Amino acid sequence: LPDAQVLVVSNREPYIHNRSAGEITLQIPASGLVAALEPVMRACGGTWIAHGSGSADRDTVDAADRLRVPPGEPTYLLRRVWLSEKEQSGYYYGLANEGLWPLCHIAFVRPTFREEDWVQYRKVNEQFADVIVEEATCDDPIVLVQDYHFALLPRMIRDRLPKATVIAFWHIPWPNAETFGICPWRREIIDGLLGSTILGFHTQFHCNNFLEAADRFMESRIDREHASVTFRGQETLIRPYPISIEWPPAALVDQAPVRECRDAVRRRFSLPADARIAVGIERFDYTKGILDRIRAIDDLLRCHPEWIGRLVFIQAAAPTRSKLATYSSLQGEAERLVADVNARHGKGDFQPIRLVVRHHEPDEVLELFRASDMCIVSSLHDGMNLVAKEFVAARDDEHGVLILSSFAGASRELSEALIVNPYDTHGMAEAFVRALQMPPAEQRDRMRLMRDLVRERNVYRWAAQMLLDAARLRRRQRIVW
Ligand code: G6P
Repeated sequence: LPDAQVLVVSNREPYIHNRSAGEITLQIPASGLVAALEPVMRACGGTWIAHGSGSADRDTVDAADRLRVPPGEPTYLLRRVWLSEKEQSGYYYGLANEGLWPLCHIAFVRPTFREEDWVQYRKVNEQFADVIVEEATCDDPIVLVQDYHFALLPRMIRDRLPKATVIAFWHIPWPNAETFGICPWRREIIDGLLGSTILGFHTQFHCNNFLEAADRFMESRIDREHASVTFRGQETLIRPYPISIEWPPAALVDQAPVRECRDAVRRRFSLPADARIAVGIERFDYTKGILDRIRAIDDLLRCHPEWIGRLVFIQAAAPTRSKLATYSSLQGEAERLVADVNARHGKGDFQPIRLVVRHHEPDEVLELFRASDMCIVSSLHDGMNLVAKEFVAARDDEHGVLILSSFAGASRELSEALIVNPYDTHGMAEAFVRALQMPPAEQRDRMRLMRDLVRERNVYRWAAQMLLDAARLRRRQRIVW
């Protein structure tokens, strides 16, 4: 695609500028979407359009609300879009995160659909569509629309720029048609997405669920052999593109050897020299199964008391969407549960669970991954889960065990992890024991296979496959026109 203009649209921006104590600080948000797309944009260039969410974001853009990033070595443009409190509350907190997020993740939090949220959601999608037109320098750009915040945007782009190639990627699961059907705006959402040239999901399973929904709720023609939907005279390809991470991860270059990372973490948490370390690292989100893994650690210590004082579980959790009750109450519940388990199994000064609730920078995350004997990813439901792949990438020593939920898309690819059902507390505890007892040679064999897979199916390949499919369609379209 030598001469095509590439525009990326997402809600979350890759760089957030905040003001604290009079100083402007830069934050890289905890977001799988950002972790995946940022290296691609760094390599390809183009324009990334996103909500300007930081308190100093307006002070760091030019008159056209743009800035060149990454700071220090810029290779692409970030165009920030401003949203009012009311828009954020309806579009982001409301429809996206209280409606679509629980709807698509089968984590048994009841989705809430409010008419006024839908109004804001539509309005913000329109606003981004207008910004895309402003940023487009030709009539046929390639627009990469990211995630459930922008289900209506592909159709809006199609109406404004009929020749654009729109690739929409849904980063979260797509549930079965019966579940999706409870959404009052199911037809509008599917119609919006069918404005895309290509619609991508992480797994074939989610593609099948979408095809099912299009079949059931729309007057569309489904071609199962080519996995496409024709609606309003236009065909949309429905394809799985399993997302990944950059390889090798940029932050790994400056990392200390594993032994030093381990010593540093032991010192920081005052751990005995022989303590084994398990880690969990993510946003404090109810879909991640954080309570479930704490219960499993409790079960392990109850059934195998020989591990008391010899195993510590460090949970790093980044505050997220805290204005919503489902998120703030989760934190309280986790704190109570941790206090409980620590009271039950603590020994002198030793506490088996350490809960650290704050944002962690990428190098701190890497240090924790490298210091650990096992990494626990126990999502109740997850589109892909990049923490699992980041852990594998961090372990160039070929040691450490990945515990991975069978309900995360990543389990389709990383089958050498110990695959668990997070709802089965005892089963998960037994997997932890197996990990703790796993001989180094077996750890190495499993880790090698997983590292080979992530190396090969890295995020550049993810992006390249979508863009190659798009390039082929563009060539065909030119013939037809
Ligand atoms: C998930 C979503 C992303 C989102 C990320 C962080 O990975 O798929 O779109 O950016 O969570 O959530 P936040 O609401 O902070 O952007």
